[in-house]
Amino acid sequence: MTSPRRRRLVAGNWKMHRTGPEAVELIQQLRDGYTPGRAEVMVAPPFTALESASRALEGSGIALGAQNVHWEPQGAFTGEISAGMLRAVGCTFVIVGHSERRQLFGETDAWVSKKARAVLHAGMRPVVCIGETLADRDGGRTLEVCSSQLHGSLAGVAVEEMNHVVLAYEPVWAIGTGRNATPAQAQEVHAHVRELLVRLFGRPVGEAVRILYGGSVKADNAAELLGQADVDGALVGGASLKAQEFLAIVAAAT
Ligand code: 13P
Repeated sequence: MTSPRRRRLVAGNWKMHRTGPEAVELIQQLRDGYTPGRAEVMVAPPFTALESASRALEGSGIALGAQNVHWEPQGAFTGEISAGMLRAVGCTFVIVGHSERRQLFGETDAWVSKKARAVLHAGMRPVVCIGETLADRDGGRTLEVCSSQLHGSLAGVAVEEMNHVVLAYEPVWAIGTGRNATPAQAQEVHAHVRELLVRLFGRPVGEAVRILYGGSVKADNAAELLGQADVDGALVGGASLKAQEFLAIVAAAT
């Protein structure tokens, strides 16, 4: 079981799915089946649906997140969105360094750390993603790759800011493939990440930071994954687009 000091978080990363009206419809279905409980819940629709999602979530107890951010507060950055803009629309979380951004859009650890700090400075909580590829895992480099991503992605984040940071371990080979990490595989990396956090930021911080697991989390494997000592929640992709499935994952975390 997760330490009682860490409140579980179940987050839905909607990726590039749902228009504004479609987001409102999905949120309504979530609201119909959701009673706020011990676990925190967040959904991250695409940028264009944030405003309507924000209104639809009012008073629900479900938090709003964004999927990406630029680190500058404003300026000539065509196509980018700042942390202040996300805050203004009602976001309290921002996912940074998702593997799809790292792999498909060339995001580096240095960028991820700038984004995480921009999110913190705007008064929101970054969900910082790390995770190895299948080649890394097969080559026995999982822990090394995750350590290096963690170091780089949290560079410049102050100890006192760390209680607003959430980490997400998402093995790339488990994302969208239907092949989740086994609970033991997830726990091994989570425990390693926590030890690293303890070394970098001290034991109280290391033990308080939440580490989510992501990669093919479904209603039928959530309880087992969340039953691991250092798995403090889930970052859910595909299954977060189906209200009943997502609610079942939330229930498994509660
Ligand atoms: P799936 O749950 O669809 O595997 O996606 C995981 C993910 O990338 C969440 O950020």
